[in-house]
This record gives sequence, structure tokens and C-alpha cells, in this order.
Amino acid sequence: MTTRMESGPVPVHRFRESAYHGYGARQSGAADEELTRVGPGTPCGEYLRRFWHPVALSCELAEMPVAIRILGEDLVAFRDGENRVGLVHRRCPHRRASLEYGTCRTRGIRCCYHGWHFDVDGTLLDAPGQPPAAQERLKRRIRLGAYPAFEHRGLVFAWLGPPEEMAEFPVYDAFELPDMEMVPYRAPFRCNWLQVLDAILDPIHTSFLHSSISREQFSAGFGEVGRIDFFDRAAWMMGTNTRRVGDNVWFRVNELVLPNFTQAGAAFAADGTRRRYYGRSSFVRWVVPVDDENTTALAWACFGERGDPPAWNTPEGPELIEQGEVFDRPYEQRQRFPGDAEAVEGMGRITVHDEENLAPSDKGVALMRRRLREQIAAVAAGERPLRVTDLASRPIPTYGGDTVLMLPRDGDADESERFSRLAHAFMRMQYDADGLPESERVAFVTERLKALEANRGAVG
Ligand code: FES
Ligand SMILES: [Fe+2]
Repeated sequence: MTTRMESGPVPVHRFRESAYHGYGARQSGAADEELTRVGPGTPCGEYLRRFWHPVALSCELAEMPVAIRILGEDLVAFRDGENRVGLVHRRCPHRRASLEYGTCRTRGIRCCYHGWHFDVDGTLLDAPGQPPAAQERLKRRIRLGAYPAFEHRGLVFAWLGPPEEMAEFPVYDAFELPDMEMVPYRAPFRCNWLQVLDAILDPIHTSFLHSSISREQFSAGFGEVGRIDFFDRAAWMMGTNTRRVGDNVWFRVNELVLPNFTQAGAAFAADGTRRRYYGRSSFVRWVVPVDDENTTALAWACFGERGDPPAWNTPEGPELIEQGEVFDRPYEQRQRFPGDAEAVEGMGRITVHDEENLAPSDKGVALMRRRLREQIAAVAAGERPLRVTDLASRPIPTYGGDTVLMLPRDGDADESERFSRLAHAFMRMQYDADGLPESERVAFVTERLKALEANRGAVG
């Protein structure tokens, strides 16, 4: 006799237990507190507060103060009449009115509620309406929380850590590349900072998200899955993707400098079809936590001979460079053509690492998280974190970029091992040029790359 269940179109008893295991695999994991909590007093938050971070674009600081949130702190950024930048706690220390409704003065900022007036360093300059003796007492006793901040090429950088531990600001080689136009931009992400940061040491995602799965968001060559290698060099971590494009071999170097500085190759200039010796990154970028659930990438988009073509220097250009699509799109567009925002925000506000299944191509992500944990623990133990300013020559060398060499096949069907040897050789050339001024460094690396081409990729 046949039961009603068995006669249906999909007999339930035929399902294998190993498949359709949704019921047993329902999510219950917790966020990775150590790496994802960034507020004051949290281990990761304290680690991040041992570095300079960009917090705003210069162009955002005009006549009015601007409410911003960085590392879980509600702040106000402003520019005073002497063109000094202030970054202060949002709430006035008198009775907690928000200084976003204050007014920028010749010196400092004035609160809207009772007119207390503060300098950019938090000093109370004036408390109108109070008896003179009380004024003097208040000026001695009251301070508005303030952070040191300065501008560089259209970005506002700030130190949110202990003043006595203030580090040297790292001036990277990429800040001063000749003939490079650097356009400041911000990219918002509605998720934890680590989800945004992870992508930089995930060089294989460009072959899928930015190419075969979504649409060709950068150039054609991105669809090729190349040989992935990772390089662990103290505060620098690099992921290379080495691809064959016809007779050419295309090296793309993604780079993270601890804790949150990132570079990659060009978005549109390099596709592997044209020779390119020692091209650099299309962005110079920091991934800055707004709070545990929001992140801002603050960056320069780089246009010029060694970056992306000046033709991409349009209002949308930095958005396309950042994630392959413009930021503000209808939901259906985001579904059809997802970019980085859809990939990383879709994980949820704070992803659950316990429920990931890391694969060989995630080696860089695992390495980065391990290194961050070590550094967070070091700071918690009272040690000084790894900083490039303690390790490098000046200007501080970075390695993110693209190089395309003409290196035809040498007969091997599978070129993976050869590509790995070449990628290692290319990285060594760059390391050997550390400490040279930029023009000599370019000449040094270019000469070695040409020699590598001339001897058909034989690595000594
Ligand atoms: S609350 Fe700011 S002056 Fe009173
Ligand atoms: Fe991406």
C-alpha cells in the first residue's frame, strides 16, 4: 500500500541526511569579539588607537561643523577661521549639547546652547554669562575632549590614541609618486571593518565578483583565475595573482599594511594585454571603522601613468575603482551586478567567523587575522605594536601594483609553479629596491623586470 506522503511528487524519505541540513546548521555563532569590537576600551579598539587614521575629507569641512563617528566615538570635525582642523567630542562638557549645532569661530568652535567657546585642542576660551571668578575657574577645570588632527592632500588624519604614545605619521612612497593625480574619496560600508579589510588579501575574488559572476567591472583580464601567492613581511602582507594573458604574464599585487592601509593594482589601466613595468595602485586607502557595524574607506584614487588613466578621473571614477560599481544603486541592480559592498554587507553587520569554511585561497585572510590577533594581544600586554615607521626606510616602501611582462609559454601545460617562482622573483626585486629614492627605485625594478623578460623568465 502506498502512503499519501510516498505518492507525492517529492517523497520525503528519499532525502539523504547529509543533504538539506538547514535545520541542523541554523546559525547560532557569535561575532568574533576580539577582532570586530572597536569601541573605547576594547582590545581591538585600543590596538587601532595606536595608529593615525583618516577621519574625513578636507572638502567636508566647510562653514558648518560635521558630526562624524570613528571607532565607536561620536565626534565633531570642523575647520576654524584660522584654517585649523578640529576633531572633538560631540557633546559639550557644559550640559552635553551637540557641537554639530555649534559655530566655527576664528579660533575653535562655539556651542549653540550657552555659547561656551573651545579651541581646537579642547581648551575652554570663553564661558559667557558666568561671573568672572567662575569663568576663570571653569577655564582651568573644563576641557572639551579633542584629538590632534591635520590635513594631507585632501584627507583629514587624526590620532585617537593616548597622547603619550603618539606615533610618527607614516609617509608612504605612494603619497608622492611623480605625475600622479590623487583624488580623495570616501566609501561607506554598512558592516564591520574586518569584512571590508578581508577583501584586500582575497585576490581571487576579483576573478569572480568583479568579472565572471557579476559583469566585467574592471578590465577583461580579471576573469582569468591566476596563481595566488601570499607574502608575509612583518607589518606588510601581500597577495599576488599571476595570470597568463596571451604571450604576457600579468602580476597583480594586493597589499595590506597593518592595521588597515591597503593598495592594489590598477582597476582599468592594467588588463594584461599591454606591457607595464612596475605600475602602482589605483587607490591608496585606509579601512576605518566607524563603529562595530559601519565602516568607511577613506582614500585617494590615483590617476596617471602608473595608476589609472586620467580619463577615469570623473565624479564616478573613484566609486568604480573602489568596488566596480557606483555606490547608490537600486536593489535590483545590486542583485544583478553585485560589487564589493553587496558581497561584504550581505554577510550581515558583523559576520560570524565560526561559520565560515576557509579554503586554500583564503590563506591571506587567515594570515591577516592571525597577525591582527597577535598585535591586539601585544598592545593589551602593554607592548608597542608593529609599525612600518619603526621598520622601514623613508619614504616607506609599499608594493601594491601591476606589472605585465611579455613572457610566452615555455611549453608547460600547467604554469602554476612557474608563475609562483616569477611572483616571488618580482617581490624580491621590489624588496631589493627598498631605501632607494622613488625615481631610482622605478629604474632599478624596471631594469630587473626587463632582464627577466630578456632571459625568458629564468629566475636566478
Ligand atoms: S551645553 Fe554647551 S554651552 Fe551649555
Ligand atoms: Fe573587490
